[in-house]
Amino acid sequence: MISKTMQDALNAQINSEQASAQLYLAMSAHCEGKSFKGFANWLMVQASEETAHAMKLITFLLDRGGKLELKPIVAPPTDFGGIIQVFEQTLAHEKGITSKINALFELARNEKDYASEITLQWYVTEQVEEEANVGQIVEHLRAVGDQGGGIWYLDSKMGKRGKV
Ligand code: FEO
Repeated sequence: MISKTMQDALNAQINSEQASAQLYLAMSAHCEGKSFKGFANWLMVQASEETAHAMKLITFLLDRGGKLELKPIVAPPTDFGGIIQVFEQTLAHEKGITSKINALFELARNEKDYASEITLQWYVTEQVEEEANVGQIVEHLRAVGDQGGGIWYLDSKMGKRGKV
């Protein structure tokens, strides 16, 4: 049986993953509104990955006999500025998620909750990948700027995510 502390922390993380999905959906719509269909696609795929992250934690919590307590999801903004700003905000958001995952991992370790620790290991690794991928997109965007042909080339590359 999972401890109440761990259960509360997992429920909070489930909410963070769902809020991430909501945020990336809003960002996707924002890009779509600017006719950047590739960036919109990338963010839409990201939104469904975030939902999968939440689902994985929900399954784990229930398997451990924990109680799922879904909370309200914070409404994201509707405007995120230029494309570079969209991805800078994505990177900042992922760094925030990494801190939360690390704190959760530390809690599992302190509680000697080995099952949670092992499950959370996947998230620690996933965050390394998330930050690296988004960091690279930010670098590429900064290199080409948000005017001119380069950004449309990047947009077409981003449109391939989830479609290969
Ligand atoms: Fe589920 Fe992008 O962190």
